[in-house]
Amino acid sequence: MTQRVKGGSRRGRSAIRGAASSELLIIGTGIAGLVAALEAGRAGLDVTLLSKMDDPAESNTYYAQGGIAVRGLDDPPGLFARDILAAGAGSSSPDAAGVLTSEGPAKVAELLIGLAGVEFDQTEDGEINLTAEAAHSRRRIYHHQDATGKEIELKLLAAVRRLPNVRLLSGQVAIDLITSAHHSMDPLAVYAPNVCLGAYVFDSASSRVVTHLAANTVLASGGIGRIYLHTTNPSTATGDGVAMARRAGASVINAEYVQFHPTALFHRDAGRFLISEAVRGEGGRLVNAKGEAFMKRYAPRLKDLAPRDVVARAIHEEMARTGEPCVFLDIAGSAPRGLDIAGRFPTIHATCLKYGIDITREPIPVVPAAHYFCGGVKVDPFGQTELPNLFAVGEVACTGLHGANRLASTSLLEGVVWGSRAVRRILEHGPRELPASARTIPPWRDEGLVEEEDPVLITQDLLTVQTTMWNYAGIVRTEKRLRRAADDIGYLYRRVMSFYRSTKLTRQLIELRNAVLTAQIVIDAALRNPQSRGCHFRKA
Ligand code: SIN
Repeated sequence: MTQRVKGGSRRGRSAIRGAASSELLIIGTGIAGLVAALEAGRAGLDVTLLSKMDDPAESNTYYAQGGIAVRGLDDPPGLFARDILAAGAGSSSPDAAGVLTSEGPAKVAELLIGLAGVEFDQTEDGEINLTAEAAHSRRRIYHHQDATGKEIELKLLAAVRRLPNVRLLSGQVAIDLITSAHHSMDPLAVYAPNVCLGAYVFDSASSRVVTHLAANTVLASGGIGRIYLHTTNPSTATGDGVAMARRAGASVINAEYVQFHPTALFHRDAGRFLISEAVRGEGGRLVNAKGEAFMKRYAPRLKDLAPRDVVARAIHEEMARTGEPCVFLDIAGSAPRGLDIAGRFPTIHATCLKYGIDITREPIPVVPAAHYFCGGVKVDPFGQTELPNLFAVGEVACTGLHGANRLASTSLLEGVVWGSRAVRRILEHGPRELPASARTIPPWRDEGLVEEEDPVLITQDLLTVQTTMWNYAGIVRTEKRLRRAADDIGYLYRRVMSFYRSTKLTRQLIELRNAVLTAQIVIDAALRNPQSRGCHFRKA
């Protein structure tokens, strides 16, 4: 273990020399981390909130387009819960669905609209304008044009910044969770229960590592999309929390359930920009290169509004059948009369125009892309992991809500509900003081790290992870492909670990170490489960 000491920050200076400390350390600044910070800050806890990026808004939340499913008209919580369970293909936790649908609407009203001032689109009568998305039996999705995540992220960040007892630090990359069993210098620590004591964190500006001790730690570090070649996720989504939790000894469950979004823009220069499911919710239809609306062949009842796993696989098959590199999403030719396409989807309209596609006149070329991790760090109904004093909320966590396939627009709501619940549990039962074992935690040592990072090696190794995952552990999986993936990623893991041990830290190196372990976790789970269910599809 390597370490270099940096002095504790102003308010967070620890009694333990060289370390920073707080009552609550939150890793990640998407919706779940920000809600946790807001709730804890309001309750008077001393909070340290870390973003690994220089701009803390840079998160999966920021890029969420469609919206946040809350409640529609004539829409009892039980109906919403049934939709979640149906999309989850028999693997969603009924308890989690019950918690989400009964507590969610009040929390959105209180925290997002009330406290943070999030604005959702309204009808001319001043009611919330509800939109539809696949597999929802009511129009129950609140949205802000097609940039709902951006609105929520920026308003929540502003609300958190107003709290004097929340210290928001950017450019802080968590390396490893600190646990008594792994890091204590006390030889007797192994006889006591293992507890989480905070995290070692790389400060990008100084290239030093800070020991952040905390009575409670909340992992809110987001998803894993970047372990795949094609993803709707930003570069931040490298599986950091999943890998850290695994190294610390917490369970990761349902890791085979990686959700592919059916419609990402297919254009050489566009990355995989998301084309929201709300486009289909507002009438958009999937067609092949001949203009044939093919979803009726794959999902005769729900067609374009079938659950995501069904639509993503249908597109995959249609592309294989026709030999075309993409299919098309047509809103221009199928929107209901009177829909102002550019007004309803200004971000998608402007982005597509940049690439020469006018969505008000022509179909959009689309392909599926990795989108959301339905598995994650196993937590209880309050976000408590198996490791005492460690919580996980948002995409990094597995509450069981999403089962084998997430219902659209439920992840933002999950972040709100569990971000809030974790803090409720901490306030009721969590320790307020650092456990005594925190005094035995050494500073990070990095004397042995002499080699400078070689960016070419890191970029190439990450690309190898991404292509391996896309080709062998993607939308359609076979045992042969998964075994090949396990071998290749196993070899890469050993190589990455070997240069990690001798190379000076950078964010990219820390992310690569996490990405390769997360890939291994996904492959292992996919290999162990021969049963096709939801977004885990085993052809053989
Ligand atoms: C979308 O707008 O299609 C994404 C919504 C989600 O992933 O829940």
